[in-house]
Amino acid sequence: MRNILVTGATGFLGQEISHRLMVLGYRVLGLVRDISDELAVVPLFGDLLETADFIGPDLPIEAVIHCAGHHPGETEDVEALHEDGTKRMVDEARRRGIRRFIHISAIGAGFTAPTRFQRSKWVSEQIVVNSGLDYTILRPHLMFGEGSATFERLEEAANRPWAVLPETHELIQPVYVGDVAEVAIRSLWLDRSVGQIYDIGGPHSMRLEDIVRHIARDSHFFRIWTFRIPKRYAASVLQRLGRVGPILTGEEWAFLQHEVTRQDVRWLIDFGILPHSLAVYYSPLT
Ligand SMILES: NC(=O)c1ccc[n+]([C@@H]2O[C@H](COP(=O)([O-])OP(=O)(O)OC[C@H]3O[C@@H](n4cnc5c(N)ncnc54)[C@H](OP(=O)(O)O)[C@@H]3O)[C@@H](O)[C@H]2O)c1
Repeated sequence: MRNILVTGATGFLGQEISHRLMVLGYRVLGLVRDISDELAVVPLFGDLLETADFIGPDLPIEAVIHCAGHHPGETEDVEALHEDGTKRMVDEARRRGIRRFIHISAIGAGFTAPTRFQRSKWVSEQIVVNSGLDYTILRPHLMFGEGSATFERLEEAANRPWAVLPETHELIQPVYVGDVAEVAIRSLWLDRSVGQIYDIGGPHSMRLEDIVRHIARDSHFFRIWTFRIPKRYAASVLQRLGRVGPILTGEEWAFLQHEVTRQDVRWLIDFGILPHSLAVYYSPLT
């Protein structure tokens, strides 16, 4: 049996990847921190922020899919997990003689990106690019699907008769978590993807307001009020509103300001994916 190591195996994307890999007949070794986790994967206990060795079966591993990372809305310890954690995983792969490394970064990762999340993702990418491993880097936009913390909040907002949202004209390309999982898995087979970085945005560009409208589509009484926040104050205003439970945190809002105006279609072509649309996912018929 072929063994794949998935980090972040208890997370939103990591679970999706692990499940799909197991359906395909792979054995998944999931890096987990908690012994109490109910898991279908073979557990490898360890914490990327600690130096202790991972504890688990000593099996030959073909590839790493490195999903452990923070959600775009989180700010605590992002640098530690994305930078030190990725370095730790790269070293672990080298030590175990694993050459193939699929790294999950994020849209807008860049040295001068607006959020700590994206800047630390850029550093993590540099670690992977300079590792000497056969890497593929995936940069998903905001992912939707069951288990997304952001979409749970948007769904909650859309379940009320009204929503108040920060006004934003930037277009977001939400991407289905299953499509990102599929790309990560197909990267394992596709030699052409070695040494590539793929931006992964969904098929439709939409404003935040449109996303909430799609989610609330079957509610006839739903109304949205938008309010304008000057861009440079937005993060701090939303952070303050955070105390009363806003729909987005300041960090998430800043992350969503990254507009994917140019659809990077290479991932659709290279991996043969027909991406799921958010409008269909939230259609009253589905
Ligand atoms: N969600 C999005 O919309 C989005 C968009 C762009 C990029 N991304 C990136 O995609 C990847 C997956 O995101 P997600 O939404 O699936 O995240 P998630 O649901 O928050 O899952 C994060 C995973 O990382 C693990 N983890 C956290 N700290 C760790 C540590 N110190 N050592 C080992 N494992 C640790 C968590 O384990 P525990 O269960 O033990 O906490 C969990 O399994 C991340 O790299 C994220 O930055 C996400």
